[in-house]
Amino acid sequence: MVDVILGLQWGDEGKGKMVDVMAGSYDIIARFQGGANAGHTLVFNGSKHVLHTIPSGIFHENAINVIGNGVVVDPVSLKKELDGLKNYDIPLSKRLFLSRKAHVTLPTHRLLDAASETAKGKAKIGSTLKGIGPTYMDKAGRNGIRIGDFELPDWKEKYRALVKKHLRLLDCIDVDIQFDLNELEEAFFEAVETLKQLSFIDGELFFKKALSDGKKILAEGAQGTLLDINLGTYPYVTSSTTTSAGVSIGLGIPPRKIGKVYGVFKAYVTRVGSGPFPTELFDENGRKMAEIGREFGATTGRPRRCGWLDLVALKYAVEINGVSELMMMKSDVLTGFDEIKAATSYNYRGKEIDYFPYTIDEKFVKPVYTRFASWKKPVHEIKDEKNIPENLETYIRFIENYVGVPVGVVSVGPDKEQTVFRHKDSSEKS
Ligand code: GDP
Ligand code: IMO
Ligand code: MG
Repeated sequence: MVDVILGLQWGDEGKGKMVDVMAGSYDIIARFQGGANAGHTLVFNGSKHVLHTIPSGIFHENAINVIGNGVVVDPVSLKKELDGLKNYDIPLSKRLFLSRKAHVTLPTHRLLDAASETAKGKAKIGSTLKGIGPTYMDKAGRNGIRIGDFELPDWKEKYRALVKKHLRLLDCIDVDIQFDLNELEEAFFEAVETLKQLSFIDGELFFKKALSDGKKILAEGAQGTLLDINLGTYPYVTSSTTTSAGVSIGLGIPPRKIGKVYGVFKAYVTRVGSGPFPTELFDENGRKMAEIGREFGATTGRPRRCGWLDLVALKYAVEINGVSELMMMKSDVLTGFDEIKAATSYNYRGKEIDYFPYTIDEKFVKPVYTRFASWKKPVHEIKDEKNIPENLETYIRFIENYVGVPVGVVSVGPDKEQTVFRHKDSSEKS
C-alpha cells in the first residue's frame, strides 16, 4: 500500500518534519508533485535541514527516496541541494532515484515566471519564482523536456527549440528582465551532468514491483490542498495536483493502492504569497504567531501571513483528500494566548454557510468564530498524550468532531522528538 502525507492548508504545515518522523516505518519515500518551490524543514540532532526537491526521507539509511514523474525538476536547484548533502556521506546513487517521466525546469522557465509575475502587477500570484508555472505549462502544452530525454542523443536539439520559443515569449511580455543566457546555460548543462550520476528509473515499473514485493511506500506532498490547481483558491494556487489524487498520477500507481492519508495542518493558518485568506490577522495575535512560530518562508524567506484556524477550509481539505488521520502542528505557538478562535462557518454574501464556497474573496466571505480558552503551561517538552493540557485537548477534540477525523499526532516543537502521538493505545491494539 501507499500511505500519503500531505498539507491541508496553504503549504508549510510541517510536512517535511512529519515525513521524517514517519520515514523509519517505510521502505520508499516518494515526492509526487511540485518542485523547487517547496521548502521542507527537518530538525534533528540539534540541526536544521531544508529540502526542496529531494524527499524528506533522505537521511534514513534504509529508505529509498524517489522523485516521482509528477514532480518538476530544476537541475540547477537540485545540484545545489545535492551539494548541501555532501557532508552527510549519503550514497546518493543508491538512495535517490529520479523518475524518467519527471519534467525539467529550464533557466528560461524561471525567467518566464519572473516576467509573468512582473506583468501581472498588483494581481501577481506571489510565485516563488522557481519556474513552476511555466514548466507545468510546457508539460500540459506537450513541449516539455523530461529527465529521460537526457539519456537520448537529441535532447539538446529539443532544448534549443524550447529555449527559442521561450525567448520569443519573453519578447512578447512587455517587461524588462535582465539575464545572461550563456551564464545560465553553463550552470544548467553542468547541473545536468551531475544529475546523470543519479539513478534514473521508470517510476511506474519501479512502484509496480515494489508493491508486488510488499514494500511500504510513503508519498510526500508539497504545497497544500488550498494551493491545488483544480481545487484550491484559483488563480492564487500552484500548478500541480497537491491533493491525494495527485499521488496516483504523480507516481504512476493505481488509486486503489492508496492506503492511509495523513493530513498535516497547523493549529492556526499561514499563507505566503497573494490570495484570499478569510481568517488572516493584522493585529497583535497575528504578530505573535509570526514571531513565536518563526513564520518566514523556507524557500524565499518571505514573511508568512498568519491567522486563526479555519475549520470550514480544513473540513473541505479533509473531504477532498479522504484524510484518515490528522497531524496537528505548532500547538506550542498558541500557548499563552489570551483566547484562541477558529472559524466554524462563513458569512457568505449575507448568508451563513458551513461549506467552502466558489470564492473566499474577502468581499464575499466573513468568518464566524468559535472561541476557546488557551492553555498557559508550555507544551514543548510533552512526550505523552496524557500530559496534554486540558484546554489544548478541548481544542483538539472540537477539531476532531468538526471535521470527523481523529488527530493522531500533536507536534509541540520543530524537533523530530517534539512529537506526541495520540490514541497510541488504540492504534497499538488494532
Ligand atoms: P513544510 O513545507 O510543510 O515541510 O513546512 P516548512 O518546513 O516550510 O514550515 C514549517 C516550519 O515550522 C519549519 O520551520 C519547521 O521547523 C517548523 N515546525 C514544524 N513543526 C513545528 C511545531 O510543532 N512547532 C514549532 N514551533 N515549529 C514547528
Ligand atoms: P511547501 O511544500 C507555501 C505558494 C507561493 C504562491 C503560490 C504559487 O513548502 O509547503 P509557485 O512558485 O508554485 O508558482 O507559487 O504558491 N507556494 C507555497 N506556499 N509552501 C509551499 O511549498 C509553496 N509552494 C508554492 O507562495 O503563493
Ligand atoms: Mg515549506
